[in-house]
Amino acid sequence: MNAASDPDTLESGWLTELEPVVCRLLDRHLSRTQEWFPHQYVPWGEGRNFDGPLGGAAWEEHQSALSPGIRSALMLNLLTEDNLPGYHWALSTHIGRQGAWGEWIDQWTAEEDRHSTALRAYIHSSRAVDPVTLERMRMSQVRTGYQPRQETMMANVVYVAVQEMATRVSHRNAGRHSGDATCERLLSRIAQDENLHMVFYRDLLEAALHIDADAVLLAMCECVESFQMPAVQMPGFGQLAMDVALAGVYDLRVHHDEVLVPLLRSLSVWSLPGLRPAGEQARERLAQVLAGIDERARAFEKVKAHLSAARSGCRMSG
Ligand SMILES: [Fe+2]
Ligand SMILES: [Fe+2]
Repeated sequence: MNAASDPDTLESGWLTELEPVVCRLLDRHLSRTQEWFPHQYVPWGEGRNFDGPLGGAAWEEHQSALSPGIRSALMLNLLTEDNLPGYHWALSTHIGRQGAWGEWIDQWTAEEDRHSTALRAYIHSSRAVDPVTLERMRMSQVRTGYQPRQETMMANVVYVAVQEMATRVSHRNAGRHSGDATCERLLSRIAQDENLHMVFYRDLLEAALHIDADAVLLAMCECVESFQMPAVQMPGFGQLAMDVALAGVYDLRVHHDEVLVPLLRSLSVWSLPGLRPAGEQARERLAQVLAGIDERARAFEKVKAHLSAARSGCRMSG
């Protein structure tokens, strides 16, 4: 394939050339994935009726021992999972449903749907966050829908590879920092699913690099440069994202060190041979974009250190 081809021809060329790969990776995924049941991860014994038709107790902040940052992480992660109808639509529209592609998208959707089911049940039974605020944000998020920023099919594949890696890290870190064994067990189970999804898309990218490395590098550059978490269009995203960053669950440092760098390294992006000038240029640009993210991560670390010093100063004087 040639990066200079007409865009429609290029898109349909990718779909046809990669279909046998999708078929093989889907078979491998099905042999690796293990059935699990959300209801087994939910602490039902801690649950009790809420106010409303059942006349129970309304949610109050003191009912959960989780820190505010972890509550925000749970909310953000759940709301991100909640927008699955939008992602299903985007993948079906921008990648396609032909043959094995459609089979993969349906399998992936069924697995993803489990994540919001399990997280919401955990949050409700443990009273981790305000269920009324959560439901209002879910309505607003799903009504907003999801419109990918990436325009080409390959940039969308790159985006989901990065996004799966990001959600894996975000769920895992939220569980680790939660101080709650039930929360950590559930989030690491979800992170295992996200890991297999990431491996699927990463290996699909690896196969694409063998077909046309220049075109894939251009798509990588487009995606990494404009990357935003899928929930960014949701009202209230900025505050939640800041809470999550300050809690050490997901910030630019994590995005750079635990998502982008390992993903690009495992695809051997920096040592790919035989690139044409357009591919070389895209790779150089990609390196510059990564350096920029690293620099912004360093600046944010300084802000974080100032904030935490100011907070401990307040605690000492209080
Ligand atoms: Fe998920
Ligand atoms: Fe996933």
